[in-house]
Amino acid sequence: MRTLAPISLVVSLLGLEPSPALAGDGLAQTPPMGWNSWNKFSCNVSEKLIRGAADAMVSSGMKAAGYEYVVIDDCWQTKRDEKGTIVADPERFPSGMKALAAAVHAKGLKFGIYSDAGTMTCAKRPGSKDHEAQDAKTYAEWGVDYLKYDWCNTDGQDTRDAYMKMSHALRATGRPIVFSICEWGNSKPWIWAQGIGHLWRATGDIQDCWDCSKSWGGMGLVHIIDLMADLYPFSGPRHFNDPDMLEVGNGGLTLEENRSHFSFWALFAAPLMAGNDLAAMTPEIRDILTHREVIAIDQDALGMQGRKVRDSGANEVWMKPLSDGSRAVILFNRGSEEASIAVAWDEIGIFPGAKARVRDLWKKADVGILTGRYEAKVAPHGVVMIRITPQY
Ligand code: GLA
Repeated sequence: MRTLAPISLVVSLLGLEPSPALAGDGLAQTPPMGWNSWNKFSCNVSEKLIRGAADAMVSSGMKAAGYEYVVIDDCWQTKRDEKGTIVADPERFPSGMKALAAAVHAKGLKFGIYSDAGTMTCAKRPGSKDHEAQDAKTYAEWGVDYLKYDWCNTDGQDTRDAYMKMSHALRATGRPIVFSICEWGNSKPWIWAQGIGHLWRATGDIQDCWDCSKSWGGMGLVHIIDLMADLYPFSGPRHFNDPDMLEVGNGGLTLEENRSHFSFWALFAAPLMAGNDLAAMTPEIRDILTHREVIAIDQDALGMQGRKVRDSGANEVWMKPLSDGSRAVILFNRGSEEASIAVAWDEIGIFPGAKARVRDLWKKADVGILTGRYEAKVAPHGVVMIRITPQY
C-alpha cells in the first residue's frame, strides 16, 4: 500500500520553515468572532472600556451567538521599560494587562491585543520590530489569545519575513494565539500568508459608509465587497481573507445597509469582529449581529468564501457552497430603486430540474420547495439572503 508522506516531512525535505498552522495549532477552524475597539473608540481605550465590552458581550447575547475574542486595538501601550518590555498605559490600564486578561477570561471569553511589525504602530506607539520574541513572551504571560499585527512604520522590511518572525515568536511561547495579519492586502497576503497567520486583511481600512473612499486608502462597504470578489479561492479553515472589522451599528449605514454588510461578511467567511459600542446598541442592531442562521453561513465548516455568479449592473447574485450541500445565496441590489432579482439553479451548481428548499434567512421563514429558480424583490442597497437546499 502506498502511503503519503506527512506534510511536515515534505516541508522539511523542501527546506521550508515549519509554520504554526502546519504544525497544527487547532485555532481558527472557522472564522474568528469577537469585538475590537478600533472602529468605534479608536485611541480612546481603557481598562474600563474593555471590561464593559466583555460584560456587554455576555449580557447582550453576543457570547451565546458565538462571539469570543475581546480585542484591544492601538493605543494601549506607551513605552518600553529599561529591559525593553512593553508597558501598558498605567493611567488607562491601572490593573495591568494580566489582570484585565483574567477578567475577560473569567467571563468565558478570550483576550486579544494589537501591535505592529514596524518601529511604531499606526498611532505612533512602540512597535514590535526587534522585540518580537520579547513581546510574544510578554503577551503569553499576560494570557493573550489573539494578536492583530499591523504594518505601519515598516520602511525597508520584507512583509513575509516580518510576519513569519512574529508567527514563530508566538508559536515558541507554547500558548495558542490567533495571529491576525494586517497589511491591508498590499503584498497579496492570500498568496503567502497561509500557515503564517490565521487571517489576513485583504483591503484598506473600512469606513462607516456605503461607498465613500478616503485618499489614504480607507473605503466604504461596496468598495470592500468589490475587492473581495476575486479572493474566494484563498479562504479555508485556519486561513481566512479579512475584509476588516464590522461597522454594523456605528451609525453611518441604514438598517438595510447594515444587514447587507453582515450578510456579505457571512458569505465571505470573514472574521466577524464587531466594531460598535456593545453596551449601547439598539435591539435592531443586536438582532443583526446575533442572527443565528446568518452566523451559521459564516461559520460553515468548509470555510469557503462565496463568490459572485452574476453581475447585471446594479443587480448581483452571490453564492457560497455549504458543508451540507446547500448554497447560501445573496441577491444584492446596489441601486437606489427596489429591484426584482432572480437566481437560477444552474448558476449555483444545482441541477435545473431539481427541487430545492428555499429559506429566507432575514425573514426566518421557509419560502417553499421550488424547481429551477427563485426570484425576490430586493430593497435599495439591500439583500435577500437565502439558503437553498437541494432535495436529492
Ligand atoms: C491601521 C489598521 C486599523 C487600526 C489602526 C490603528 O489603520 O488597519 O485597523 O488597527 O491602524 O492605528
